[in-house]
Amino acid sequence: AYEKIWLAFAIVLILLLLGSVTYGAVGPGVAMVADSEAQIDANALDEDDRFAEPRVEQVGENEYEAYVVAYQFGFEPSPIVVPENSTVTFQITSRDVIHGFEVAGTNANTMAVPGEVAEITVEVSEPREYGIVCNEYCGAGHHAMEGKLHVV
Ligand code: CUA
Repeated sequence: AYEKIWLAFAIVLILLLLGSVTYGAVGPGVAMVADSEAQIDANALDEDDRFAEPRVEQVGENEYEAYVVAYQFGFEPSPIVVPENSTVTFQITSRDVIHGFEVAGTNANTMAVPGEVAEITVEVSEPREYGIVCNEYCGAGHHAMEGKLHVV
């Protein structure tokens, strides 16, 4: 009899876990769908079309590119503003040390490495404001390094 109770308990736990995983994947309104990386000269960002002026650009009907530079201790641009129900490709680099780039509470997450361009594509649904956090220790201001993503 005890075995059956424990079995039922285990099944309930598994179902709860599956439920929370599913919620985590579809709940937040920002979902990462692709990622990759390329090289760049970290000392020549000012001469790069994308990063000389960090910004958001519309590249298709519901498609946007966000060129983001991480630095000690923040992100440019901030806020990053994109419309709801769009696909956003973030191209992210760093002008100094290694940083993280994570849209808080979602699976959109990558590293910002000097000399590299990380690319992640996310789908954003409903209007909402998100924090962008650095999840790599990058110096004295690491804990306060924060950006904003506004889905409008
Ligand atoms: Cu930037 Cu931690």
